[in-house]
Amino acid sequence: MPDDVSLDRARADRPLPKPGILDIHAYVPGKAQAPGIAEPVKLSANENPLGASERAHEAYASAEKSLHLYPDPRTTIVRNAIAERYRLEPERLIFGCGSDEVFAILNQTFLEPGDNIVQGEFGFAAFAIGARACQAEVRSAAEPHYRIDVDLMLELVDERTKLMFVTQPANPSGTYNTREELVRLHAGLPPSVVLVIDAAYAEFCTDPTFTDGLELARGAGNIIVTHTFSKIHGLAALRVGWGYAPAPIADAIDRIRPPFNVSNPALHAAVAALGDTTFQARSLAHVEQWRPWLAQQLGGLGLDVVPSAANFVLVGFPTSPGKTAAEAETYLAHRGLIVRGVANYGLPHHLRITIGLEAHNRALAEHLAAFLAGR
Ligand SMILES: Cc1ncc(COP(=O)(O)O)c(C=O)c1O
Repeated sequence: MPDDVSLDRARADRPLPKPGILDIHAYVPGKAQAPGIAEPVKLSANENPLGASERAHEAYASAEKSLHLYPDPRTTIVRNAIAERYRLEPERLIFGCGSDEVFAILNQTFLEPGDNIVQGEFGFAAFAIGARACQAEVRSAAEPHYRIDVDLMLELVDERTKLMFVTQPANPSGTYNTREELVRLHAGLPPSVVLVIDAAYAEFCTDPTFTDGLELARGAGNIIVTHTFSKIHGLAALRVGWGYAPAPIADAIDRIRPPFNVSNPALHAAVAALGDTTFQARSLAHVEQWRPWLAQQLGGLGLDVVPSAANFVLVGFPTSPGKTAAEAETYLAHRGLIVRGVANYGLPHHLRITIGLEAHNRALAEHLAAFLAGR
């Protein structure tokens, strides 16, 4: 072991990331491969099993002629299309290479070392990674029954809190908070704290008590709502995310945003996808058909299915040897079905399973029945 002096010298002898960076656990993406299976079914990343709109494919291909040109830094065509569709002011929209980048830029815009963000204990991993990269503290409120609790979140707020993140519906739990709860959460925040509502899966929830937050953000000076083209539009590969922010915040973000962060083919495909309401309706109908089916089948096997408003379900497994979540994940992978272990979210006894095509869902239920029966 080197002594302290030589350790110090070693430190000075090479470039070191700023404090805290090497304590961050990198984002764990959904696995895409299963041992010995040429083409496994990926139910681990909440992608759209129906693919993407044909119109988006065509628009993407048409952009091929301009590969040598930088994209429009104002993302005008998609900005205008979103503004029209959701009746939002175009200048309040912000864009990123996926909503992941929007979160990263938000963190950079607001957080100084020693500040903090507040999220639920099962909050989406990207929030915490970006905050820690800014040397901010991550405060996580307990989520009884896998749902954000308004009072527990507000209890964690102090004068160094800059951002509060909630996801509607949440990943990995699939639960959501009602409009009334969000209004109460916002009302309990000092005006200096920004409430970020991540609505990546909002299109999969049609419950009348649900809101993606846009209606609340319109008149508020401290609410940002983010959306993505990766889920209902099936454009995860293209990386287009957007946010609706108060005008001064949109202005601040635009000063530090990488100027060409949404590519030209992605812009064109996104506009086409947004216009294809038939594809969106089909994607929603598919989830609405198979989400309750899967919940019922897996619940019938004695598994603990968390009620989901998204395009996936969170499923709790027994802790007895031979029946655990980790063993089920391996068992399914050997049969060509890749699901998501969520131990990194503090949920070692759960798996998160994306709603797949009919054949995938049926295969999943059958394999899990066999697994639990010890076959
Ligand atoms: C809750 C949540 N927010 C945001 C995202 C990121 O979406 P994007 O593909 O736009 O970066 C995901 C992706 O899985 C997600 O689960």
